[in-house]
Amino acid sequence: MSLKMPEPDASVIARRAQIAAALRAIVPGDGVIDDADALRVYESDGLSAYRQPPMLVVLPETREQVSAILAWCHAEGVKVVPRGSGTSLSGGALPLADAVLLGMARFNRIIAIDYDDRTAVVQPGVTNLAVTRAVEGRGFYYAPDPSSQIACSIGGNVAENSGGVHCLKYGLTTNNVLGVEIVMMDGEIVRLGGRQLDPAGLDLLGIVVGSEGLLGVVTEVTVRILPKPETARAVLIGFPTVESAGLCVAEVIAAGIIPAGMEMMDRLAIRAAEAFVHVGYPLDVEALLIVELDGPSAECDHLTQEVEQIAAANGAVSCRSSTSEDERLAFWAGRKAAFPATGMLAPDYYCMDGTIPRRRLPQVLQRMRELSEHYSLGVANVFHAGDGNLHPLILYDANIPGQLERAEEFGSDILRLCVEVGGVLTGEHGVGVEKRDLMPVMFSETDLAHQQRVKCAFDPKLLLNPGKVFPTLHRCAELGRMHIHGGQLPFPELPRF
Ligand code: LAC
Ligand code: ZN
Repeated sequence: MSLKMPEPDASVIARRAQIAAALRAIVPGDGVIDDADALRVYESDGLSAYRQPPMLVVLPETREQVSAILAWCHAEGVKVVPRGSGTSLSGGALPLADAVLLGMARFNRIIAIDYDDRTAVVQPGVTNLAVTRAVEGRGFYYAPDPSSQIACSIGGNVAENSGGVHCLKYGLTTNNVLGVEIVMMDGEIVRLGGRQLDPAGLDLLGIVVGSEGLLGVVTEVTVRILPKPETARAVLIGFPTVESAGLCVAEVIAAGIIPAGMEMMDRLAIRAAEAFVHVGYPLDVEALLIVELDGPSAECDHLTQEVEQIAAANGAVSCRSSTSEDERLAFWAGRKAAFPATGMLAPDYYCMDGTIPRRRLPQVLQRMRELSEHYSLGVANVFHAGDGNLHPLILYDANIPGQLERAEEFGSDILRLCVEVGGVLTGEHGVGVEKRDLMPVMFSETDLAHQQRVKCAFDPKLLLNPGKVFPTLHRCAELGRMHIHGGQLPFPELPRF
């Protein structure tokens, strides 16, 4: 299988030297990269099955430079792919052969912190964890915590509406961002939202968060910071079956408890994580729940007891609470390392990101076991169980001909299954190129045309991050009619390496 991407424009590629010179006039020094070896560094993101060196890379340092770059590219009809830290798991920052890759890594300053207002203003290249590091001395933190938080950037989090193990209680990026400054494709600089909780006017901020680099380039972000809870405790609960763990999750929520996090790992994932970080996960269980309770200590004690009772009633065979902050962090370290840890099970893994109604978990897991046999590929399961967000990790070996293709088919069957049971294609990794061609499974042609109208309002020449999210792009002028036939831009194949 290979991925169809927009046809590279040979006339743009032929102008590469001229484009580099124009961008060097905007970003002097070493801010423009056009050396073939140096460009290789940027050829893929976290979805490493796909690779494509960019035409060239530009690394601006100021919003005026971003504005000038975009305005120039807009006038000249040159495509632009924005990139943060390059950790996208859906290929959101996959370069194009005829596009400028706009790297935002140099926007790495924390601009202001206001503890009274509980906000921080940061540049988009600041890493997720750096926000918490900057405010933790005063007892604050930034709640969304993707597993890649040591590396992923806030700008990328805004683009993908990233989540993390604590978003069950504290929300995704969209619930923790109050305002952004973005540069539109024509160079115009716009501020959306602000410090207030409920700004007036249409919720354009809501549209921009999660727009996967298709609407504008974020140059500043105002985030909410939260005071650290007085107490936080993680409880490890082992179950003899994944189904009983799933029922426990449903009953905890039904009891009116919203834990700070409620994660599940199956036997394969538990074993891999334990072998990797040695944090004391039980190895004789089929499923492990990590439930975090937080708040004032009396409330935390009470909730812990309630969760333990619900777990016992659902057949839990082991239960262990963290007794120190170090132990709590160690319990999470295993979970957060679960993805790289599966590298011990197979040379490669393909990470899925579907979301289902919680009560469908047993049915979906059963079907996944059947699919695993059908495709003769193993699967380790890590779930944001409280949110119904699944991360099946399909194990394969890219060096064995045909295995990657089988892994992709297996993955696409899992995502179709998620939609079939009333779920959605993505929980927190975005659509990117990974799930782009499955969008029609969830959306009608009319739905997609309406979504593209939003894209056209922001970027009428379709120059920003083409080939992502939309399975087909229509020329904006042709979107006036509801039913579109013809006028579709063809996506030729991008060979995989
Ligand atoms: C996680 C990220 C990868 O859940 O979504 O670990
Ligand atoms: Zn996740």
